[in-house]
Amino acid sequence: MSNIDAQVRASAFDVAPTLSLPPALAALLAHLPGSACAAVLAISGADLPLPLLILVISAGAALLAWYWRLPIWWRYINLFFLPLIGLALHLQTRGDGVDPNWFLAAFLLLALTSIGAVRTRVPLYLSSPRAAEELALRLPIQGSLIDLGCGLGGPLARVRKQRPDAHLAGIEAAPLNWLIAKLRLRLGGGRADIRLGSLWNADLSAYDIVYAYLSPAPMARLWDKARAEMKPGSLLISNTFAMPDFDADEVVDISKPGAKPGDLSHARLLIWRM
Ligand SMILES: C[S@@+](CC[C@H](N)C(=O)[O-])C[C@H]1O[C@@H](n2cnc3c(N)ncnc32)[C@H](O)[C@@H]1O
Repeated sequence: MSNIDAQVRASAFDVAPTLSLPPALAALLAHLPGSACAAVLAISGADLPLPLLILVISAGAALLAWYWRLPIWWRYINLFFLPLIGLALHLQTRGDGVDPNWFLAAFLLLALTSIGAVRTRVPLYLSSPRAAEELALRLPIQGSLIDLGCGLGGPLARVRKQRPDAHLAGIEAAPLNWLIAKLRLRLGGGRADIRLGSLWNADLSAYDIVYAYLSPAPMARLWDKARAEMKPGSLLISNTFAMPDFDADEVVDISKPGAKPGDLSHARLLIWRM
């Protein structure tokens, strides 16, 4: 593995490298030491205010998430999860809380856009406009591109603006994301084939560029699929995530100015020529 690939794998998106547990479970377990301390203090009769106990549990959970090198967002989730629940309950008991229907609506929205991530370990986050610029630059005249897990259709919509000659396709597993991508591409005019389904069922043999912005979890399987199906000379382009054992032929930094490795805004396109 090259230094660049090793650096990319060690980025903010790497999956709990020090544990062999799913990150969500590890993040949950990280609350246990602080909760045990709080329970001991409560049993021993210490008269500590509830907000302080919540702070101890959350700070401990965030520290453990950092120590276990969970992806960076788990540190923030662990730090803010309990305090926000405490705040919501406090407001609710005072009678000026949020209407519970909003929580239901937020849950449904999350489920429709991301429930599949529990199984695929690929949540929804969006490519930057810089990524789409690079894709548009690399497409041959009248070339074809597929976005595997096309999300809300942003990269495809941007590529189409710059390259109206291109044949574009996307496949997306989450129904709401698919619908938004489909409408977005249709309303913008032009041709784009946006399908609802699993990227593992897509035939990659027809495309000049296969673009994927997924997570570390499916990369080894994606490599096998790309090698088996993509035509010679075509490009496999992964936003941020490296292949476990295969160096990219080219790496393009598409970070925001000033971003450092490990920042959420630090991003690269890794490009393999088949
Ligand atoms: C990180 S987002 C990227 C979205 C879009 N490609 C972009 O760059 O803005 C990954 C998307 O892949 C979708 N996805 C994950 N696993 C998938 C699968 N097996 N088949 C199809 N889509 C999948 C998710 O629902 C999510 O919308």
